[in-house]
Amino acid sequence: MTQTMAHETRTDDVFPVKGVDHLKFLVGNAKQAAHYYSTAFGMTCVAYRGPEQGYRDHAEYVLTSGGARFVVTGAVHAGAPGADHVTKHGDGIQDIALEVPDVDKAYAHAIAAGARSVAEPYDLKDEHGTVRVASIATYGDTVHSLIDRSGYDGPFLPGFVSRAPIVDRQPAIDAGLQPKRFFQAVDHVVGNVELGRMDEWVEFYRRVMGFTNMAEFIGDDIATDYSALMSKVVADGTRKVKFPLNEPAVSQRKSQIDEYLEFYDGPGAQHIAVATNDIIASVDAMRAAGVQFLDTPDSYYEDPELRARIGNVRVPIDELQSRKILVDRDEDGYLLQIFTSPVQDRPTVFFELIERHGSLGFGKGNFKALFEAIEREQERRGNL
Ligand SMILES: [Fe+2]
Repeated sequence: MTQTMAHETRTDDVFPVKGVDHLKFLVGNAKQAAHYYSTAFGMTCVAYRGPEQGYRDHAEYVLTSGGARFVVTGAVHAGAPGADHVTKHGDGIQDIALEVPDVDKAYAHAIAAGARSVAEPYDLKDEHGTVRVASIATYGDTVHSLIDRSGYDGPFLPGFVSRAPIVDRQPAIDAGLQPKRFFQAVDHVVGNVELGRMDEWVEFYRRVMGFTNMAEFIGDDIATDYSALMSKVVADGTRKVKFPLNEPAVSQRKSQIDEYLEFYDGPGAQHIAVATNDIIASVDAMRAAGVQFLDTPDSYYEDPELRARIGNVRVPIDELQSRKILVDRDEDGYLLQIFTSPVQDRPTVFFELIERHGSLGFGKGNFKALFEAIEREQERRGNL
């Protein structure tokens, strides 16, 4: 009875979230990054802020694809805030910003639960209205800004101005050469944390945001001969915001998480999974634009055990095999997924495309096949 009561009064309500507001990338060259996400990821640049608007430190481009919103920010002079982040980490995700209905309440709860403050609640204003913002620290140098934009109708945040897309994809869309969107939402954001600290971060999200454990992997489940990791997933009550958290596990050789932690110089966001309704069209368009995806051996598709487990999916397996798209199935349904190579020179941040058909999972059955593919790449870089 006590447990039932505890469950009913669990803390979702003290930290309600509407979803991921945006992901902020700090990069060495925002102009080129914005071009890359426009051409290779089919995103639309909708807003900008920089020296032309009186912001002397950064050029910032806002790109959207459906409900997904990225901000790429680059320093325009030495010593600008955030320039040290790029020096230390390379291009990376500095802010996983969450939209919340009540910034002050969410912030107060987080701080009372032990979160470190990065910015107390404050207002940003322009002629389009007011946005309330606060920020708290999470793993590494990553932060969660908490944003209430209900009183605002501008293109992004006060100070940003609308701008035209960087490239015009309309002719390619009209000609049937490209899908209207390559993806429409952020599905999950994965963090790599320090060895032995995953459970602390799971507890952090439980305590600070009322997130609950959604799924659990243990080392043996996702170990290959060389690479091993531990992973747990936390999510808000609505399952709109999902944060898998990885830590390296002891194995024969350096794991992919160790490689990330070394090259990112600490914990940080490892991959962003974006949701698509048509992974075939998305992968074809992205490949045509030069995006590199991880290879999957033909043996993966030819394995009779795997074929039996997968059953029928919406396209023939050959269609998946020719594109190296992975399949996983659980009691709720199935999912199709594929992972890009890292999107910067350092072997750190990468992307996942995911098409869900009922499954709420993360491709647990594919972890081993995936890691073996990653290890082949690690070996080529001399980091295995
Ligand atoms: Fe993922």
